[in-house]
Amino acid sequence: MSQPEYDQGPRIAHAGSVHLGTPDLQKSLWFFRDLLGMEVVEELDGTAYLRGYQELTHHSLILSQQPEATVLGYSFRVQRPQDVELFAQRFGEQGIKTLEIGKGQVAGRGEAVRFLVPGSEHPFELYYDITKPLAPEEIRSKILSNSSRRRGLGVRRLDHINLQTGESTVEQAELWLREALGFKRREVLKTPDLLIASWLSVTPQVHDVAMGRGAEDRPGQFHHVALNVENFHDLLTAADQMRDLDIEWGAGPGKHGIGQAMYLYVHDPGSGHRIELYSGGHLIFDPDWQPLEWSPRQEWGGTWYGHTLDTGPGGSFLTTTPSAGL
Ligand SMILES: [Fe+2]
Repeated sequence: MSQPEYDQGPRIAHAGSVHLGTPDLQKSLWFFRDLLGMEVVEELDGTAYLRGYQELTHHSLILSQQPEATVLGYSFRVQRPQDVELFAQRFGEQGIKTLEIGKGQVAGRGEAVRFLVPGSEHPFELYYDITKPLAPEEIRSKILSNSSRRRGLGVRRLDHINLQTGESTVEQAELWLREALGFKRREVLKTPDLLIASWLSVTPQVHDVAMGRGAEDRPGQFHHVALNVENFHDLLTAADQMRDLDIEWGAGPGKHGIGQAMYLYVHDPGSGHRIELYSGGHLIFDPDWQPLEWSPRQEWGGTWYGHTLDTGPGGSFLTTTPSAGL
């Protein structure tokens, strides 16, 4: 006799893509395609769809030409086709306004639901269907798990998205990501009374998304998107080349205590959005993982070694770019 199947309900699979508005699309394309080595899979009407060489799905980064450097959306893939509708129903019951995004409205992608995260107001989109186009033969890899040959500085995939909101809404937003979307709190930086930042995942990564308190009390702040490179040496090579090219520096290279990955923060010269190159990090397989609680006094959480993160008053690591509305 077969067992009745246990239905866990709708679940998030992983961070899928980020959609950056850029006032200078050509300069952004130079940065992400020519320097970082991402593939432009499709480009139409002032919007380009890119992926890393180890991503088989249509895109993980969307760039749109527009006057302001705002972020137009943060997209997550769900586990099953029906989860898009199931999540939409759940949000409806919670009184959250949703927008349906039709198939093909975002190139390569099926139907999606768009909404603003309660509290932080970041525009999230959830989807399941996405095409997996073969790269053109001239850049296709012989390794079946690579969509294209490694090029440029070797960005292989989207790693995580780092979001911020105001002090008055950060706890609400972080709790909602856990309760409504099923993200698990993996590591957290807090004082006894105040949440500073939380690293959350549904995968073995320490974070697929981070939610933190911004320097200013306003919602919808984008701190950075992290792109994964294979190893520490790739990141140091990137640092060398970017210095010569006068790419605006953020911080790094260094290694985080929280998450244990090596980092390099720079800014896309077309848009000014902060981009992190990211390598390494510990993975979590324990089903009974307890969130690791860091105190601001343990300053090696941010930087274990290397270039420190400038988080003092007026510090360069405190700047963010805004998100669009619904
Ligand atoms: Fe990060």
